Amino acid sequence: MKPEREQWSSKIGFILATAGSAVGLGNIWKFPYLVGENGGAAFIILYLICVVLVGLPIVIAEILIGRTAQKNPVGSFRELSKSNPFWIGIGLLGVITGFIILSYYNVIAGWSIGYVVESIKGTFENIDNPKAGGDLFISLSSSSFWSVGFHFLFMVFTVYIVYFGVTKGIEKAGKILMPTLLILIILLVIRGVTLEGAQKGINYLIQADFSVITTKTVLLALGQAFFSLSLGMGALLTYGSYMSKKENIPSSAISIVGLDTFVAILAGFMIFPALFALGMQPDQGPALIYNILPIMFNYIPGGYIFRIFFFLLLSMAALTSTISLMEVITSFVVDELKTKREITVIILGLIVFSIGVPSALSSGVLKDFTIFGLTYFDLFDFIAANIFLPLGGIFIALFTGWFWSIKKALPSLLEGADDFNPTLIKTWIFLIKFVAPVMVLIILLSSLGVL
Ligand code: PHE
Repeated sequence: MKPEREQWSSKIGFILATAGSAVGLGNIWKFPYLVGENGGAAFIILYLICVVLVGLPIVIAEILIGRTAQKNPVGSFRELSKSNPFWIGIGLLGVITGFIILSYYNVIAGWSIGYVVESIKGTFENIDNPKAGGDLFISLSSSSFWSVGFHFLFMVFTVYIVYFGVTKGIEKAGKILMPTLLILIILLVIRGVTLEGAQKGINYLIQADFSVITTKTVLLALGQAFFSLSLGMGALLTYGSYMSKKENIPSSAISIVGLDTFVAILAGFMIFPALFALGMQPDQGPALIYNILPIMFNYIPGGYIFRIFFFLLLSMAALTSTISLMEVITSFVVDELKTKREITVIILGLIVFSIGVPSALSSGVLKDFTIFGLTYFDLFDFIAANIFLPLGGIFIALFTGWFWSIKKALPSLLEGADDFNPTLIKTWIFLIKFVAPVMVLIILLSSLGVL
């Protein structure tokens, strides 16, 4: 007999787990440095526009596909497309993308746990300038033992949670980690904005200067919305497949997207006021979190403990995202090959860990090993985030709006949501059929250098 598919035990459990997937390194590591490099408030406004016009409609579509078919990405596309090989291929592309992202994302997540350990040990205490912070980061991340070791440890945490399944593992982790994360981030925001001189940082985040916006900025904002919302590779689809048909998809999607955006903006308010108060520069790129922040805490009262909080927060945000990536590939193997979840997760964990090892070594022994001028790590990130996610996003929108078609998608969407505002539903139809696919096609072509 076919075992019954697990379902989330509550609406809030689903929302927290899915928001957990969305809230991750993208919000706390990437969003602030993109804001810092691209004009502060103007970038934030642009980002919000992308989230509403493109992100939210595709979030709804992706959850809807999963909930309707109640299967992993491949199984869902197979079912709703009546076994059309092209659409099955799109599902498979999602699973492969999850595999690739997990392999390198887990490496950066490992650094965050490594930084918790180093913070507790007091490694950053006597370092007084960003340059020395950068050197320390290079020496840690280029140590094979440190980098591979924490990559392994983080994979163990991820496997441990997914091992226990949807309600006892993923949902429970979300219910504990997400509220803790919110409390920590609010504490850190309060610490930052109450420092003397913080006002300059606050102004930077609320006074928009649109003269710095170029087409490239628009594309960066759109790409970031995609990555941050975990869109385009079946993570939301898989989580949607555990959702009951009684639940309201549009309203849940609004809560998830709202939480993700709220945390990204809070991350800005956690970092910039403190950075400006200490006279440091916001435009440091990806180095911001690992090179400058650990040093910044040396100048803040209570810095020792706030630094530990900060890296714990980063680790928790990353963990709820790695769990969702792991769940995509696990549910695929469990559904398609009828294997047992427990043993499947362990084996997949070992495989993904091994594939991630070269990424973990990319800052060290493999630094000079490049393909098309990119390190193994950068290459994986480029292919997955800049090509596969947007591609997946376009096809999810086209599938819902045209192939599976609105005629079939709409009744399914209205299950559990029949009292939802009809104008908003009409707007969703317009966005998913026309606006989202066209805008995403633009990001894709531009990241490939065609535009
Ligand atoms: N949304 C996550 C973040 O912002 C990353 C992610 C992408 C997770 C795709 C799952 C799927 O960090």
